[in-house]
Amino acid sequence: MTELYIPKNEWRTNNAEEIKNFLTFRGISFARWKASHPLSQEDNESTILKAYEHELRPFMDKHGFQSADVINIHPKMDNLLALREKFLSEHTHSEDEVRFFVDGSGKFWFNLKNEIDDDDLVVCVTCTKGDFLSVPQGIKHWFDLAPEYFVKAIRIFTSKEGWVAQYTQSGVDKKYNQV
Ligand SMILES: [Fe+2]
Repeated sequence: MTELYIPKNEWRTNNAEEIKNFLTFRGISFARWKASHPLSQEDNESTILKAYEHELRPFMDKHGFQSADVINIHPKMDNLLALREKFLSEHTHSEDEVRFFVDGSGKFWFNLKNEIDDDDLVVCVTCTKGDFLSVPQGIKHWFDLAPEYFVKAIRIFTSKEGWVAQYTQSGVDKKYNQV
């Protein structure tokens, strides 16, 4: 189940409206999307993209995104720990990071330190099937594949170069990630 968790206050909610309001206020778009037809585990990238085209296409056109793909991480992959490490340190991007969770789950962590919040507001959104997030460029974040190591997600890009991670080396992530 989708959850917003604020470690500082030990506060959590599963209410999609509350999650949306909290994130929207801080510049992160959150929505719930439904497929136009049922999908199975075996469906390929083009079938998956087609099932969400009614949501995807208007968003991409409105915001100037050029391409979409589907990333598929599952527990039988042999490089899972290396893959987890790749996303697990705080970083930013020079373009928005947009993800739609077709299946599985993962934890998006945000370090929202800015003039709106206290000086240390780290929040975690456990994303599950049906969640759409658009994270603006420059927002500090990291992503944890554990404990499920199962994520099937649509990614959209203006250019893949923009999505390259710029690591902050702040070490903030280490305070929150489970070993
Ligand atoms: Fe990222």
